[in-house]
This record gives sequence, C-alpha cells and structure tokens, in this order.
Amino acid sequence: MTATRTARSARILFSLCALLALPAYGGEPDVAWVERSRALADQLMSELKAELGQAMQQGGPVAAVAVCKSRAPQIAARLSASAGADVGRTAIRLRNPANAPDDLERAIMQGFAAELSSASPAATAPPEAIFESRSAQGTERRYLRAIVTQPVCLACHGATLAPEIVTAIARDYPQDAATGFETGQLRGAVTVRWPANR
Ligand code: HEC
Repeated sequence: MTATRTARSARILFSLCALLALPAYGGEPDVAWVERSRALADQLMSELKAELGQAMQQGGPVAAVAVCKSRAPQIAARLSASAGADVGRTAIRLRNPANAPDDLERAIMQGFAAELSSASPAATAPPEAIFESRSAQGTERRYLRAIVTQPVCLACHGATLAPEIVTAIARDYPQDAATGFETGQLRGAVTVRWPANR
C-alpha cells in the first residue's frame, strides 16, 4: 500500500515537472515529435469541430450525439494509423469509459484545470504538457493538450440539458459523468502517445 502510494506521488511529481519544463522543450530543435503531436491535436480538434457543427446544423443536437459517438473514435483511429501514434481524447469526468485517462494523464489534467480556473478569461493558448512513461517496449513520449469548454459544448456537457438530449446520452452512455461544465472550464484533453519503438 505504502509502495503504491509512493509510486503514485513520484509519477505525479514527474508529470508536474514535465509541465513546468514545457516552455524550455518547445524551443529545442530535437523535439520534432512535439510539433507532430501539436499538429495531430490540431487536426483532431478541427475535424471534430467541423463534424459537430455540421451535425448540429443539419440534424440538431440529438442527431449530433450519434455523430459524436460514431465519428469521434473513427477520426482518432484514422489519425493514429496514419501517424503511427495513439491519438485520442480523454477527460477526468468521462462520457465514454473507453476514453479513461491513466494516472499520469489524470494528474496533468488536474494541473490544467487549476491553471484554467486561475487564468484570465482572455488567456489564449490552452495548457499543454509533454512527458514520458514506460511500457514493456521502453520509454514512450507523450503529449497532452487541454480541451476547454466552449458555449457550443453546453448543449451536451452543460449543467442543464434538453430532455431529449438527456435521453439520447443516457441510452448510449449509461455511466455518463460529463455534464455540469461551464464555459472556460477544462472539459478534457487531447492525448498523443508515441510508441517506444519509433
Ligand atoms: C451533440 C452533443 C455534444 C456536443 C455539442 C459536444 N459533445 Fe463532447 N461528447 C459527446 C459525446 C456523445 C461524446 C462521447 C464520444 C465517444 O463515444 O467517444 C463526447 C465526448 C467528448 C470528449 C471525450 C471524453 C469523454 O468524456 O468521453 C471530450 C473531451 C468532449 N466530448 C469535449 C467536447 C467539447 C470541448 C465540446 C464543444 C466544443 C463538445 N464536446 C460538444 C457529445 C457532445
């Protein structure tokens, strides 16, 4: 028990160090993977935003729930396959349990949430972090970028949802915990994970 707790604090400490180290890393020439991760995060978010906007406009929010359900994993899978990295979304309070974070991601997102809650509303770039973790194959390089709640998200992630959306979400996500958010709060993060053998 003690050992587990110690290991966890060590990991959290490490993740916070990684978070603090980011500005220094960002300017280094040997971190092309960070730029590739940023580009993948941009791509994922812009494709999702486009599909969400189109679905909301054409079919309304209930139809858009189905689009989020089918398209979000497909887009992430396609980007992952073409990049040779695992690209996806995660969150502390989840809608889809398949998006669950590991301990490091959770700890870093807690840092993001604190940063956003103390940031001025005009703060520009969402917080990001680079860090490493061990797999059986060796050291993986990892990138995480905050996803900030926007007004358009509130129809499905806000404090008050239309009854038909509650029904649609409950049908597909009986364990949903991803409501009650406000604009500007951390909703989740984009995660990019580069396997050790690359
Ligand atoms: C039409 C309803 C709808 C809207 C609007 C919506 N989402 Fe979602 N969101 C969903 C659904 C459904 C899922 C589960 C997708 C899946 O199964 O992977 C989801 C999942 C997520 C996840 C993945 C983590 C998790 O909890 O599973 C994030 C992050 C997220 N949404 C952020 C946002 C943000 C940011 C916005 C606004 C820009 C937004 N969503 C707008 C329905 C919506």
